Amino acid sequence: MATQSPIRANTGLEGVVAAETRLSMVDGERGELIVAGYQIEQLAERSFEDVVELLWDAAGGAAAGRPRAVTLPEATLALLRAAAARRTEPMDALRMAAGTLTAADDAAAASLLVGSFPTIVAAYSRLRAGREPLEPRAEWGLAANYLYMSTGAEPHPELVRGLETYFATVADHGLNASTFAARVIVSTGADFVSAVTGAVGALKGPLHGGAPGPALDMVFEIGEASRAELVLRRKLERGERLMGFGHRVYRVRDPRADVLAAAAERMFARAGDARLYELARSVEATALRLLEEYKPGRRLKTNVEFYTALLLCGLGLDTSFFTPTFAIGRIAGWTAHCFEQRALAKLIRPQSVYVGRRPA
Ligand code: ACO
Repeated sequence: MATQSPIRANTGLEGVVAAETRLSMVDGERGELIVAGYQIEQLAERSFEDVVELLWDAAGGAAAGRPRAVTLPEATLALLRAAAARRTEPMDALRMAAGTLTAADDAAAASLLVGSFPTIVAAYSRLRAGREPLEPRAEWGLAANYLYMSTGAEPHPELVRGLETYFATVADHGLNASTFAARVIVSTGADFVSAVTGAVGALKGPLHGGAPGPALDMVFEIGEASRAELVLRRKLERGERLMGFGHRVYRVRDPRADVLAAAAERMFARAGDARLYELARSVEATALRLLEEYKPGRRLKTNVEFYTALLLCGLGLDTSFFTPTFAIGRIAGWTAHCFEQRALAKLIRPQSVYVGRRPA
């Protein structure tokens, strides 16, 4: 018979404060996100390189310098070619490729990881499409290089700005699952490559990084604004969830949704199809009205995934590459947390309560 224990485990660690951090603060009641001392709205105006440097500085990792896109070693490219031939999922390919990297110390590893991720993901998207990978151009930053290496074309500055806004908004977000995974690994004294490889694995799950695709599918399914009420009402009547709405922490509108909506509007107006943006706005307004009607008092508001989906679609990225693109932004936070955890030099080791059989 299983042992009864008077101690109850907090299996989801909800409400447990497991770290002190200078990197980001999430206030779900007020809808506030501070990253490296900046409101997310201010940070979103900076380049991705600035965001990475601010996070590294705050974490005591300034020695890593300013990140730049790097050319992949032959062994990494060979692995990506083999993965593409087997139609490996993009997040699995990213995890395997990240694991091929090696560096002499933490600062070198952080630079190498942040600089390699855009090259790895872009190279894999081209290999999956039967095209040859491209090398990064020295005169461009990480976001411009990611778009260039994915599409092969010189990216429109408005698209680069849209992507930089996205990277800034997802760079860090408290002690989320993948960040916690990275900190646990570094806390054992292991290297940053191992920590980031583990974080990629944690980000892959649908409860963490895998949601923007379905939000976009919903907008496409609606197709035109006049159908929004009918389609959404039918979903709610069937007890379905509206993708891109609701959040475990935010009880008001996710501040990242506002930043991304503004970026998407600018990007679509100057370098894309503004009709998709208009459609998404009207789907959002109808969804919020119906959620209030069907789930009164639940405070279900627009989350980051809704406008992420729209923005990444406007950049011409395939939905199967949305989560790897999230990883290119979130690696800023992962590496910064690795520096912070390294300085702490404290093993993360919680306890479990035994509820199994006892020997007879
Ligand atoms: N559409 C319709 N109803 C919803 C939605 C939604 N999107 N979200 C929550 N509800 C309802 C639930 O059905 C439940 O109703 P009930 O009390 O009548 O049964 C109530 O609101 C509370 O739901 P919970 O699951 O307890 O809320 P929780 O805070 O745990 O859920 C979550 C958060 C998982 C994000 C949820 O809102 C959801 O499934 N949203 C849709 C998927 C999505 O957009 N995911 C991306 C989240 S952002 C991110 O992860 C980075």
